[in-house]
Amino acid sequence: MADNRVTFGSKLGILLATVGCAVGLGSIWRFPYMLGTNGGAAFLLVYILFMIFLGIPVMVTEFFIGRYSRSNTVGSFKKLAPGTKWCWIGYNGILAAFLILSYYAVISGWTLEYVWQTLSGNLYASPDVDYGIHFEAFASDVFRPIFWTAFFIGLTHFVVVSGVDKGIERASKIMMPLLFLILIVMCVRSVTLPNSEAGLTYLFKPDFSKLTSSVVLSALGQAFFSLSLGMGCLITYSSYFGKETNMHKTAWEVTIINTVVALLAGIMIFPAVFSFGIAPSAGAELVFITLPNVFEQLPFSNLWSLVFYILLAMAALTSTISLHEVSTAYVLEEFHTTRKKAAWIVSIGVFILGVFSSLSFGLMKEVTINGLTFFEALDYLTAKIMLPLGGMLTCIFVGTRIDKKILKQELTNNGTIRFRLFSIYVFFMKFVAPIAIGIVFLNELGLLRELMKLF
Ligand code: TRP
Repeated sequence: MADNRVTFGSKLGILLATVGCAVGLGSIWRFPYMLGTNGGAAFLLVYILFMIFLGIPVMVTEFFIGRYSRSNTVGSFKKLAPGTKWCWIGYNGILAAFLILSYYAVISGWTLEYVWQTLSGNLYASPDVDYGIHFEAFASDVFRPIFWTAFFIGLTHFVVVSGVDKGIERASKIMMPLLFLILIVMCVRSVTLPNSEAGLTYLFKPDFSKLTSSVVLSALGQAFFSLSLGMGCLITYSSYFGKETNMHKTAWEVTIINTVVALLAGIMIFPAVFSFGIAPSAGAELVFITLPNVFEQLPFSNLWSLVFYILLAMAALTSTISLHEVSTAYVLEEFHTTRKKAAWIVSIGVFILGVFSSLSFGLMKEVTINGLTFFEALDYLTAKIMLPLGGMLTCIFVGTRIDKKILKQELTNNGTIRFRLFSIYVFFMKFVAPIAIGIVFLNELGLLRELMKLF
């Protein structure tokens, strides 16, 4: 379709920007926290299966929609299926982006607090500090975490306003390779700690008795969250792809890099968790309690800690930019306002919601919905319901509404590149993904068990 939208500057830029969007707190903070609260290696196994068999097909499908329609999440469905209700997939996505950003910014803010604490020399000041208690004192405070949340949203706002091609691409190019390096250093330190084998066993030796339906749903949610799928984030990104971008190759590359980062994060965290006697199921604070213990064991603790938390904040930033961009692009294009105004609307809204997530680690800890705090409830609603649902519907949409010839033409760049697995991709996108996601849902809802009783 014709267009005159901005596109990303180069091939590498496209890959790095998309990797920057995918790799973030999802792999480094959320993955270890999910694995720890879901019993270990069995979760990892299911997660990897979901990444390959659902993640990649859904990602290719989103890339197709984005580049073919050259429009934002809602606009793309409106363009491809005018006058239908399919654009609700887009609305679901924009709402998800907005909700995710609101609690993601809180965790991102924590990384800034740790940068600050390292810089001011407070974090490693006394040798016997209990980092769990230390973290608790910070997170349950009212103003400090909210201040950092606001600060982080401000940073995101700044990059989003300065535009797609300059801001996002440049930031990703520098940060990603550096982050990779420091993760490897941390892994080496972690596996050479005393008693670290227990952590590796926990991470890599599956105990299938732990495999409940809620673990499977968590793994599905994590796969979608970590690859930024199911809410049109990658539709928006791929709308900036160039005509010659190889989309299925990009999908593989992004998925592989993302999985490697998550595995490195696991190898960095779990040996240390067991070595220092931290509970793997500590929850959202796991990474923030574990890592200072590891840094303390390294020479030049302050320096490592500083570089690491800065990079983690940057990785988070390349993801918050993507989440912000989804909502901003929508407000911008559908309401015909300026980029600046659109971004302000999003930033202020996200901040207000973020305040509640932040407070749910302290003042509002006791306020629960079905046993979940506000933060946990938002995370559950988005990662485990809205994203997989969005992904499922996106596949059904392309599977039923799009002519296969057009699909193939777009994915092979008008026949100029090969896509050998095209028919396998179509099969997975049309049947396997929607059915598998549907089954996981029904199972979690207990419906499947009821249905089985009928036969
Ligand atoms: N995938 C990112 C991470 O792992 C977070 C993220 C960015 C995201 N954009 C998204 C999650 C869209 C879901 C949907 O940190």
